[in-house]
Amino acid sequence: MKNLIPGFLLAILVALPQLNAQTAGETSSAPTIGAQPLYLDPTQPVDARVEDLLKRLTPEEKDSLLHGSGTFATAAIPRLGLPERWMSDGPNGVREEIQRNTFNTAGLTDDYSTAFPSGICLAATWDPAVAYTQGQAIGEEARARGKDIMLGPAVNIQRTPLNGRSFEYYGEDPWLSGRIAVGFIQGEQSEDIASCVKHFAANNQETNRNNINVNVDERTLREIYLPAFEAAIKEGGSLSIMAAYNKINGTYCAENDYLLNTILKGEWGFKGLVMTDWGAAHTTDGAARGGLDLEMGTGVGRVPYDQYYLAQPFLDGVENGTYPMALLDDKARRNLYVMIASHVLDPNRKTGSINTIAHQNASQKTAEEGMVLLKDDNNVLPLDATQIKSIAIIGDNAVHLQAAGGQSSGIKAFSEISPLAGIIARVGGRVNVTFSQGYSSAGATRGGRGRGGAAAAPPVPAADLIAQAVRAAKQADVAIVIGGLNKNFDTEGSDRRDLTLPYGQDDLIAQVVAANPRTIVVLVAGSPVEMPWLAKVPAVLLSWYGGSEAGNAVARILFGDVDPSGKLPCTFPKQLADTPAAAFGAEAYPGVGGQEYYREGLLVGYRWYDTKNIEPLFPFGYGLSYTTFKYDNLKLVPGDHAKGIWMTAQFDVTNTGSRAGEEVAQVYIHENNPALERPEKELKGFDKISLQPGETATVSIPLGYRAFSYYDSDKKGWVAQADDFQILVGSSSRDIRLKDTFKLGEASFYK
Ligand code: BGC
Repeated sequence: MKNLIPGFLLAILVALPQLNAQTAGETSSAPTIGAQPLYLDPTQPVDARVEDLLKRLTPEEKDSLLHGSGTFATAAIPRLGLPERWMSDGPNGVREEIQRNTFNTAGLTDDYSTAFPSGICLAATWDPAVAYTQGQAIGEEARARGKDIMLGPAVNIQRTPLNGRSFEYYGEDPWLSGRIAVGFIQGEQSEDIASCVKHFAANNQETNRNNINVNVDERTLREIYLPAFEAAIKEGGSLSIMAAYNKINGTYCAENDYLLNTILKGEWGFKGLVMTDWGAAHTTDGAARGGLDLEMGTGVGRVPYDQYYLAQPFLDGVENGTYPMALLDDKARRNLYVMIASHVLDPNRKTGSINTIAHQNASQKTAEEGMVLLKDDNNVLPLDATQIKSIAIIGDNAVHLQAAGGQSSGIKAFSEISPLAGIIARVGGRVNVTFSQGYSSAGATRGGRGRGGAAAAPPVPAADLIAQAVRAAKQADVAIVIGGLNKNFDTEGSDRRDLTLPYGQDDLIAQVVAANPRTIVVLVAGSPVEMPWLAKVPAVLLSWYGGSEAGNAVARILFGDVDPSGKLPCTFPKQLADTPAAAFGAEAYPGVGGQEYYREGLLVGYRWYDTKNIEPLFPFGYGLSYTTFKYDNLKLVPGDHAKGIWMTAQFDVTNTGSRAGEEVAQVYIHENNPALERPEKELKGFDKISLQPGETATVSIPLGYRAFSYYDSDKKGWVAQADDFQILVGSSSRDIRLKDTFKLGEASFYK
């Protein structure tokens, strides 16, 4: 941070004396209000301020807004008081500082932040209010760290569970992803930060991400891969968006006229800026005409900033008439719009705070609400700390800190509570807790696709680690195996090769549960894994990557201080061969010769398993609680078409158990006679409700026209047929408790 603030302050200080003076580049028509130029007046409308400021800029200054002048910075325009803009990753908290002209760490000691649970855990809360709170906390930390644009949230759909970045994303469903993104962005941007929703679009794998050409039909794009972005822009109001590395239908996303100009800026009315992913621009012409407004990361350290495609080469093109001045103006205007809308030029801009108690609580709340109880036979959980004398904690992930890994979304956390530390803090004074490593993560035998090199031999042979663990398990009342993946597997830059647990954990778990039937497995992972030992193990908790307070959250769920209420935002398949992208061979994933075909079309995630009748290990939307819920009294209440609501599904949920808990009630739709193929069912609404024992809540889920529509690529719009629609209300995609038929009398079509 030390190298940021002085530059920023300097820009302001240099600028201030000159603000009232007319200087080169200002036209005489630029209005001033009193002594102050209009663009600096926070009481004026954003658009008017932007236009006023734009008029004052020279072409060179306008162009300087369109490209990086540092790995994560753009240039200042001191004479007008425009500071450098600083960006940072990302979705799970504010990343450590990176050197100005490289990707290396800046090596500072004042760039720690709170680590928040990764995106998949946030999505598993199914709670947009939790996403808002997390977004707001990250926004505050970003301001305290002097940032202007935060590179997140990341909302690509989990097309294959092998995708190395599954842990960062919000799972396999467009509606759920959109709701979480909207909450996150509104929270983050309330702190005078611009969010940058990423990676637009269809960046669904890390293998060959820089070049892969995604061949996808328009309907699939519109129904599966774009809606979360659409919600982020239209409802969340995200001020910026990051164009992905990959190509879609032959054109790089960062130069994709159809994606950026026609859909995003045209149809969705986006007024903010499109930036590249780092190094995702390829030509001046493509960037200029394709809809790009800010180019970042082009050959960092190798290509001078003034030689970026949108720098001097674009300016030359404007000056020699290849590109109209209006094109330069449009790009500059969008950059200024983001600056002014996020209050960069305002004296009362929020200044943020870092690692406050509120932030730690927000981080812990997401972790607790997102963890998913997958299995709990005979109420093995929650554990009663007063009845247990000894616990054998087994497994490397009990002590493995996870916040820092996975590349750009990694966090240099002020602190991170490991599961072992959390459990000891919760029961250590009264229960004898032992730890054995169980397996060694030093000997990675199943690194990601494309990761070369021989695996290091584990320092202690696997058989010895298992033998120690078995001995410990035998001597304890309860064994808790804490394993799963880590950020060598859940990471940007490479995909996993398979869904198996690494480091011989399947063997370890099988042997531990044979030694002590009261064995609980805690999986620390950001994406689905196979569980060949599942039938033998009575309880399984999926903790994801839980951020700074991860271990406390694990302990509070295991010992029943908190009722588990997370639900899976992605299907856990029984085996890799069952997954949609795997069914169509290498052409469908990971691609052949740079070409990849989304042959499964709309049938992603549960849409695939349900339509094809493939039984998953755990279905989408699934997650247990320590209490039980009853659903009844479904009513389909006609809605107000004028308000865009066609029908409201109303029903009661009652907590029938003896402890307080939270339930995520889900509404799916099945169309009876669709003219085009439709998935068996699709999520169209949900609500998370908190209920005391015996309490009943009436839940209302409004359904608008989009809930009933499919995208018609010929007509280029959304069609809802006159048809019968089954309204399916349930506790997961495969646990439907109530249903009724809604008759849609009149067909409709919307652009
Ligand atoms: C990642 C982005 C990230 C950017 C800047 C890229 O490699 O794909 O998600 O925001 O780097 O770190």
